[in-house]
Amino acid sequence: MHASTLTCTRITDIGFGRIQAVFSAEIAPRAGQFFLLQTAPSDTTALLHRETVYPFAITPAGFTLEFQPGNIPATLVPNATFDALGPFGHPYQFAARQPRILLIADQNPAPLFALADAAIAQRGEVMLLLGQPYPVRTLRPEIEVQIGHLPKLFSQTQTWADAVFTTTEQTFPQAKRLFSGSLPCGIGACHACYVRTPQGAVLACKKGPWLAVAPD
Ligand code: FES
Repeated sequence: MHASTLTCTRITDIGFGRIQAVFSAEIAPRAGQFFLLQTAPSDTTALLHRETVYPFAITPAGFTLEFQPGNIPATLVPNATFDALGPFGHPYQFAARQPRILLIADQNPAPLFALADAAIAQRGEVMLLLGQPYPVRTLRPEIEVQIGHLPKLFSQTQTWADAVFTTTEQTFPQAKRLFSGSLPCGIGACHACYVRTPQGAVLACKKGPWLAVAPD
């Protein structure tokens, strides 16, 4: 388990109640991985206060995190430090040389952004389908955005994509879905994240957090 300290270097209010914060970090995650961020003072119940966060805009010096309304750490100010564990999870690599990826979100698109970064780094194309308003002016210009009824938008775009990822609870054929349950330890120790997939039951913290969805 990697423990590290993240230092907030910049905070931006991007609108819609959302905050993006840049952190300097000693460890660079890879696309698709997550950290467990301690957002409350250290105490004996610290595990309960760890927030699962998904870095994007990753550089050797650090990365960006986005916090949704109601989920912004009270101690988040410039120069604040946070203890973090990670990175955890299976890094995602696209098989296609110039992938076309379709990203689908309603409330929370931020976990998808590192996948968009990776696809763009491979000179791929990225389309983001949003079911809710979002400050789209803050997105990378390479990302094409469509906002509306997600099943309808998906039906219009699914044949275009090499790979599909979603943060919603809806089922989209061929999509990998972000595991939405609790990830208390991140290292396969607590077994709280067992989930059924078409490949059998797996630990989301080891094989995920992006997982194919088992049929009902
Ligand atoms: S989070 Fe503990 S086993 Fe996966």
